[in-house]
Amino acid sequence: MKDKLRHNITDLALTALDLVAPGKGILAADESEGTIEKRFNTIGVESTAENRRAYRQLLFTTPNVEEAISGVILFDETIHQAADNGRPFPQLLQDRGIIPGIKVDKGKIDLPGFDGEKVTEGLDGLNGRLAHYRELGARFAKWRAVYTIDDYLPTHTCIQVNAHALARYAALCQANGLVPIVEPEVLMNGDHGLDRCEVVTGAVLQAVFAELLAQGVAYEGMLLKPNMVLPGQDSPEQVTAEEVAAATLRCFRRVVPAAVPGIVFLSGGQGPEEATERLNAMNAQGSQPWELSFSFGRALQEPVLQAWQGQAENVSQAQQRFLQRAMCNRAARRGDYGSEMEEAWPLVG
Ligand code: 13P
Repeated sequence: MKDKLRHNITDLALTALDLVAPGKGILAADESEGTIEKRFNTIGVESTAENRRAYRQLLFTTPNVEEAISGVILFDETIHQAADNGRPFPQLLQDRGIIPGIKVDKGKIDLPGFDGEKVTEGLDGLNGRLAHYRELGARFAKWRAVYTIDDYLPTHTCIQVNAHALARYAALCQANGLVPIVEPEVLMNGDHGLDRCEVVTGAVLQAVFAELLAQGVAYEGMLLKPNMVLPGQDSPEQVTAEEVAAATLRCFRRVVPAAVPGIVFLSGGQGPEEATERLNAMNAQGSQPWELSFSFGRALQEPVLQAWQGQAENVSQAQQRFLQRAMCNRAARRGDYGSEMEEAWPLVG
């Protein structure tokens, strides 16, 4: 029994390492139906099942993108969909050496009794859903909790209930042979400064790792998907990429165990180039206890959506934009990114 468990943890640890392999990161393409509708609204495209399938196919079939993308997080609808040639998306990704993953939380609801705070739901029936997704080819999963900063938030209760749910999810993932991506996101909304974000992010991560440990989650077989430490989006404070990198790394070195193989940042509303520049600044600081990579949604996809506009004749150009962003982030993994690279990928018309 013990040997079986050990073997299982080794497999999880190897998958986690593949997801943060040098020069590679994760594409978060797991927008729920409500969220993808919002994204499509920005380009005037109707959110039908077929348009969503066509858009995800564009992303997953982008030539050469496997050089910079190790894994893709899918949504429930997408993991059941297939490409034009009938190949199911999880297999299509696997064929290209890209690991399929799946969002398994069911979104956030108001935390009763705590105005302005949220708790993530989705634990009921999760064990069975994880087994189903693994059969479909998923090798990792994602669960997102969110925390709002204001003068009095987040509360201790919000931090504790979300840490508990994240750890329950992570333990169930590992029992089902899936690498859990643990995503506690301290939101950018508000006018707080960099210092306050650092304190809150540290407190949230400390609670999350205490729960993960208490519930027997093996750090070696998971990945952390956090926010970068940033001033609120309405803050007058101006910060350089180097200041963001210094605050983020100082915070993480205090609370993220060295046994965690990788930290894959979310973009959280930062501009695509801004997110790349800040990831680059972190990797330019030299070796850290963990790989520092990306699991971007908007920061990889915004330029792609703009180029696509829902038109079949724009697919090739949109794929060029995706490859360009992925390759810039590949460079940021080595601390080699420079803004001149934004011009270095000629677009094919
Ligand atoms: P963003 O990079 O757009 O924040 O999305 C990442 C993600 O997966 C949020 O859960």
